[in-house]
Amino acid sequence: MCGIFAYKGDKKNAPELVVNGLKKLEYRGYDSWGVAYRTGNEIKVYKEIGKIGEFDIKAGNEKIDFSANCNLAMGHSRWATHGGVTKENAHPHYSEDKEIAIVHNGIIENYAELKKDLIEKGYKFRSETDTEVIAYLIEDHKDLGFTESVKKAISMLQGRYAIVVMNAHNDALIAARRGSPIIIGKGKNEYFIASDIPAFLEYTREVIYLDDNQMIIIEDEVRFVDLETNKEVKKRIVKIDLDAQSAEKGEFPHFMIKEITEQKETIARAINQDPAKIMEIAAAIKSAYGTYLVGCGTAGKVCLAASYHFAKIAKRHVNFAFGSEFPSLQDFITDKSLVVAVSQSGETADTLDAIEVAKKKGAKVLSIINVEGSSMDRISDYKIYIKAGPEKAVASTKATTAQMAILTLLAYACAGKLDEGKRLLVETASRINDMLNPRYEAHIQKLAQQIKDWESIYVIGKGQNYPMALEAAIKLQEVSYIHAEGFAGGELKHGPIALISKGTPCIVLVANDETKQDILSNAMEIKSRGGYIIGIAPENNDVFDYWIKVPESGNASPIVNIIPVQILAYQLAILRENNPDMPRNLAKSVTVK
Ligand code: M6R
Repeated sequence: MCGIFAYKGDKKNAPELVVNGLKKLEYRGYDSWGVAYRTGNEIKVYKEIGKIGEFDIKAGNEKIDFSANCNLAMGHSRWATHGGVTKENAHPHYSEDKEIAIVHNGIIENYAELKKDLIEKGYKFRSETDTEVIAYLIEDHKDLGFTESVKKAISMLQGRYAIVVMNAHNDALIAARRGSPIIIGKGKNEYFIASDIPAFLEYTREVIYLDDNQMIIIEDEVRFVDLETNKEVKKRIVKIDLDAQSAEKGEFPHFMIKEITEQKETIARAINQDPAKIMEIAAAIKSAYGTYLVGCGTAGKVCLAASYHFAKIAKRHVNFAFGSEFPSLQDFITDKSLVVAVSQSGETADTLDAIEVAKKKGAKVLSIINVEGSSMDRISDYKIYIKAGPEKAVASTKATTAQMAILTLLAYACAGKLDEGKRLLVETASRINDMLNPRYEAHIQKLAQQIKDWESIYVIGKGQNYPMALEAAIKLQEVSYIHAEGFAGGELKHGPIALISKGTPCIVLVANDETKQDILSNAMEIKSRGGYIIGIAPENNDVFDYWIKVPESGNASPIVNIIPVQILAYQLAILRENNPDMPRNLAKSVTVK
């Protein structure tokens, strides 16, 4: 949620470099963007609404002077929290005297009180944002010098932040974090500061992860300071082995379809884990006095599906809560509990909040994450990386199925059947490889053509596939903007069936197990009321008006059943002329509560 990128080094085209880096972070927020750089003793700030790198000249906006000889710049891509999508609210923000500029990701919870105090002192604000308050606080303490005034301002903030600050008087660049990511890329005589690694991957693979309550000060020398002790700290440089290519679209028109297609490999990669480690984690689940699966959005649906797996495969009751709801259940948490946090980014604020709550109670935390070095990675007792590679499309696809695969494996491990689980998932991965081909996509595209103008789509599932019905609905909502809802098949007759009219598209997720007859009966109930039944199932059935075949896959059916819906959502987005990679109102990494 919001992308930050800054550069200081030998290169003389810093503003251009920052704009290009911001484009790689666009998935984090894309309602507006801006860049600041220093020329002489002045900071220039450019802001725009819309696509990164494009200037609305007609609106009288100036273009960034890319020919300026400049080796220090910073930029921001925004997902609005405080204040609408306007040029004034876009970052960077100046202090009132324009001698400080700041970019920020996060939310300052006490900004209203701070702003009130500053207004009483006579400051006049230009935006509605919480961020501008930080710039003004720095200005208010400028007598302390640049670094100390930033520290002082930070000490007054409540909430989460990742900030980068520059000033008009020298070439210093300062960044600090609490709760939102900041990653430093170290090149030869140059430093990159970013919310995520792809922003600087083409320049360096040497990274330093800034921890919470730490600050980096880049002047002639580079220093890291622990803001709680005010002492300098040494940081480790980590070599990462991501390749720049994996974070690019390549031959694909969109990241979403690239990432859907990558599921040919990602599921097999996810389950390729050290068996001893999986058994150690299974033992922790078994010995915990209460295990809680926690995640948000799609990751939450994966957790819910996993709770079915643990019940069915491992005969264990495992609780589930959305990250945002978990604090309300905290009275059950003890130092014997285990919290399993599931997250692609490892940065989702609601999930991090749940972890914080659990840790305060002394519980142990296992994170199942994609992004190594993320906040969850750094604060968890156990971690499993899903190894899906960068997922850039806002709609989660390959991370979802990789998370599902790992949790299925863990359920088997808890049942003492790790090898059986692995065999099932390896076979499933290979069947998915066969399934994902242009003919299959064309079959789904034909369906998309038929239903693209419907106002609503409903999805039903039962057992392990009920959470996948919920997930299918999210996928359809976020990229097609068609109203979509998922239900447990058996629940329809208790109310929602009133929504069905002639032709209403209803997707039915079928598994070849004990739930099959019931869900087919539910489909029949919908069909009898005029619904158009789209069956996603290993075998055809008379009740289906349109059949999308999926491979038979036993307990891995939630994994195979969600893939055709991912493709359908993508096709609907294209037919409805939506950008599937950057759906309206959303951002990839939700780092605000
Ligand atoms: O990074 P996370 O997995 O923690 O993200 C959680 C949700 O924000 C995320 O799954 C969201 O629901 C996706 N856009 C859904 O496709």
